Amino acid sequence: MAAWEFETLQLHAGQEQADPATGARAVPIYATSSYVFDSAAQAAALFAGEAEGNQYGRMHNPTVEALVARLVALEAGRAGLALSSGQAAATACLLTLARPGARLVVSKELFGGTFSLLNKLLAPWGCEICAVPPTPEAMAAALSPETVAVWVETIANPSGTVPDLPALAEVCHRHAVPLVVDNTWGGGGYLCQPLLLGADLVVHSATKWIGGHGTLIGGVIVEAGRFDWACGKFPAFTARDGRGRSYLSRAGELAFTLRARDLGLFTMGMTLSPFAAFLALQGLETLSLRMQRSCDTALALARWLNQHPAVKRILYPGLPSHPSHAVAQRTLRHGFGAVLSFETHDAAAAQRLVERLRLISHLANIGDAKSVVILPWSTTHASLSDPAKLAAGVTPELVRLSVGLESLRDLQADLAQALAL
Ligand SMILES: Cc1ncc(COP(=O)(O)O)c(C=O)c1O
Repeated sequence: MAAWEFETLQLHAGQEQADPATGARAVPIYATSSYVFDSAAQAAALFAGEAEGNQYGRMHNPTVEALVARLVALEAGRAGLALSSGQAAATACLLTLARPGARLVVSKELFGGTFSLLNKLLAPWGCEICAVPPTPEAMAAALSPETVAVWVETIANPSGTVPDLPALAEVCHRHAVPLVVDNTWGGGGYLCQPLLLGADLVVHSATKWIGGHGTLIGGVIVEAGRFDWACGKFPAFTARDGRGRSYLSRAGELAFTLRARDLGLFTMGMTLSPFAAFLALQGLETLSLRMQRSCDTALALARWLNQHPAVKRILYPGLPSHPSHAVAQRTLRHGFGAVLSFETHDAAAAQRLVERLRLISHLANIGDAKSVVILPWSTTHASLSDPAKLAAGVTPELVRLSVGLESLRDLQADLAQALAL
């Protein structure tokens, strides 16, 4: 399977043979909360984590595991887990790494929900949050002996900033810090595979391009299996339980995934439903085709909007004028993302635009097959202070457009009528 290319993996990884019980070619939706044990000894071994198998639906489901296996393959990782939302994936990831007193070094250009998680949960719990520009220099300067994670987005939401992942990974590993990449905008690995560029963990909102049709909420974490969790910064990984075992002694290089499953699924119950996993699997089958089409249309729209008199500024890393263009050419493949943001001349014009659009829907999502638009200042980033919003590249006149699969000409016509004075 490792030799298959991305387009083959997105169809076959996680289900290489037809369903053994029924011959079904599609991955069945295993709608069950529980599994009959073979014996008392097997039940005890499953509960002790000493046997492989399905113990209980909060932790185990074959439909969900097919999705996990497919995404692990697409992200070139070694292990992973699925959760009930992208937000749940970020929560499980950070709680697996952090502890009171730890420092988290994060990009100051992130999805607003990630800032909510950091500011409303991790900071009151006792973590120090250090938000800096996602450059190797700024992040290196922010690292301390207490730092347990560096967190960036492949393409920042909504500024379009693309961090230099290989350079960041080098800085992180010099200080024994894992690099975590929210690869949601990297489209399930099609545009970028951060684990191959040196990152240690990838987090996704499967709600976006993985599902791809605006029909589910889900999240995923994938682990590279390279980080040294015994480096001294992660005492929870080496702490012994009542049986004298630690996450590290039980799972070795994949200790992160074992602990994230223990906290995110077993303890906090942020479980993905098998139906949502099925929808995500369906979406993945056409991921490369959808991403390519949306990226090509987004680039054409960015070039067209760049000439439009009602548009003040475009934030799209595919344009040579974007500060991240050169890095994006090195770290992304196939295209520059399916989202472009642009500024109108004032906030009133931005509000008029989203209310006038007819084909493009005004709603809170990205990565749908249908094109969608939103004003991040008053919605996705509204919980941030005005200076924090501006630091994240969010202004009152900024419009975020997630480009779907419609015809370029129809999208241009809709934008043109909505931008007309
Ligand atoms: C970059 C990024 N990460 C995470 C999330 C959160 O995902 P979810 O809505 O599935 O919880 C989003 C949602 O918009 C996002 O854009």
